[in-house]
Amino acid sequence: MTARLRLGVNIDHVATIRNARGETYPEPSRAAEIAMLAGADGITAHLREDRRHISDADIDELSELCRVRGKPLNLEMAVTEEMLGIALAHRPHAACLVPERREEVTTEGGLDVAGGHNRIAPAVAALVGAGIRVSLFIEADPAQIAAAAKVGAQVVELHTGAYCDAVRARDTARAEALLERLKRGATEAARLGLEVHAGHGIDYATVAAVAAIPELAELNIGHFLIGEAIFIGLDSAIRRMRALMDEARAGRAPGAAA
Ligand code: PXP
Repeated sequence: MTARLRLGVNIDHVATIRNARGETYPEPSRAAEIAMLAGADGITAHLREDRRHISDADIDELSELCRVRGKPLNLEMAVTEEMLGIALAHRPHAACLVPERREEVTTEGGLDVAGGHNRIAPAVAALVGAGIRVSLFIEADPAQIAAAAKVGAQVVELHTGAYCDAVRARDTARAEALLERLKRGATEAARLGLEVHAGHGIDYATVAAVAAIPELAELNIGHFLIGEAIFIGLDSAIRRMRALMDEARAGRAPGAAA
């Protein structure tokens, strides 16, 4: 079991709401401040090629905020020349390389590292060379994990989306199989010397099983927390998620006394 499981809060969808009205509010940087005060260990933001939520100006602001607060910024980015240039100019603490298709609603599936070695390896080398911790967002697939280690990434983030969808669909058999796959993937990635993260689609109902995977060092959670913030506030939503992570990590049932 690694030490305390870190929580990266993804604030993209604060920008989605702002952009829906073409307004200047709500500000992702304000959400990032609240998230850090509520116990987020870092802030995650995805600068998409189409800028549908986070903007270049947001990245400027979040970079400065994280620097001042001494918290890591994790920049999610596609493997393109443009994004590489932006990452190298900002030098965030971490970059998470993700697949990106313009027509998708969210990041669908993991990065094909095994099939994209020649494109991904130079990007990883450039980022690592600039002192940026590189994470690859992949499915918990042995070929992808092996390829991630081969291209020189320090971290893999295992895609939890399919598992979370299966839980929400009450497809227990599929959820169990997908959770086993995540567990095996985490073990294999750690064996290869990779730091292991997980994320996508996590909510209160799915966080415990994921957080209990002992090799995991960090979870990245966004959409559910921003949605829950509408009802109970961002601070409370993050504190509750943090508590569920800590309980799972300590092997306690949700709500049990410490
Ligand atoms: N990790 C990665 C690599 C992502 O692309 C996303 C979505 O932007 C997340 C985590 C967070 O997913 P969600 O918003 O579903 O919690």
